Amino acid sequence: MSQGPGVEPGQWSGLGHLERDLVLTDEDFSRIRQLIYQRAGIVLAEHKREMVYSRLAKRLRHHGLTRFSDYLEKLARQPDAREWEAFTNALTTNLTAFFREMHHFPLLAEHVRKASGPVRIWSAAASTGEEPYSIAMTLHESLGARATEARVVATDIDTEALTRARAGVYPVEQVRKIDESRVKRFFQKGRGQHEGLARVRPEVSSMVEFLSMNLLAPQWPVKGPFDAIFCRNVMIYFDKQTQARILERFAPLLKDDGLLFAGHSENFSYISKVFRLRGQTVYTLAEMAGAGR
Ligand SMILES: C[S@@+](CC[C@H](N)C(=O)[O-])C[C@H]1O[C@@H](n2cnc3c(N)ncnc32)[C@H](O)[C@@H]1O
Repeated sequence: MSQGPGVEPGQWSGLGHLERDLVLTDEDFSRIRQLIYQRAGIVLAEHKREMVYSRLAKRLRHHGLTRFSDYLEKLARQPDAREWEAFTNALTTNLTAFFREMHHFPLLAEHVRKASGPVRIWSAAASTGEEPYSIAMTLHESLGARATEARVVATDIDTEALTRARAGVYPVEQVRKIDESRVKRFFQKGRGQHEGLARVRPEVSSMVEFLSMNLLAPQWPVKGPFDAIFCRNVMIYFDKQTQARILERFAPLLKDDGLLFAGHSENFSYISKVFRLRGQTVYTLAEMAGAGR
């Protein structure tokens, strides 16, 4: 195995058989884990070393560096630098899909149909936009003419994911999994240089506002009350303490009968008493659930 410039034997533990040209020591890895936990609440497991190497390698190469220690020093020297944003963007996982966890959407449709006043939904880990656009399409179908006054606030810590989300342009393969009638109604197919791409129609994209936001930040740039909050497949990256703190901050932002949608492998019942399970990965405020809704 090639050990790269100036590497001591033993500095490569955990990297397996893969050839590596950049130096990532145990100490660097543990520093990176600490930093991403402090910045974003993300708990990186020991076995994520390969992932960290490949995700941050681009940043090192961008700066012409060969050692992770030099990169970390560069970050430490510039506490406010844009590089921190790139560091965080690189270490987030953005996996998502249109109408992911399909069972949530008929429930949302039914919930907003009964709502009084303009409907407001928060997609709290919006990634590249598939989730908030799926919500907006559901509101369109469910609310008819009232959809024009409905709003979806979509937030994420990853500024690159948000840039892609705002563009609202996706490879057609991604859109193919959606119902054909929805594709016809809510997407425009690209021609010429945009062949192979599909764009979310303006009547859907105009309902969604994208904001950059860290769920750990002391102030959130969103204001309730929301009819529903989608916080799916992000809590899995946080420890229980962080999850509990976030759940407690969601509660006052929901309408009394509001719904909190979680990811398929997330269970909030054991974390906070503020929410009570109402159905498959869907929660309601505990006090209201007690009132017999
Ligand atoms: C796996 S994606 C989930 C996307 C979507 N909610 C879904 O379920 O398909 C997780 C998202 O959480 C975001 N994220 C991670 N840490 C965050 C934090 N501290 N604050 C806000 N968003 C965060 C990531 O950038 C990523 O886009």
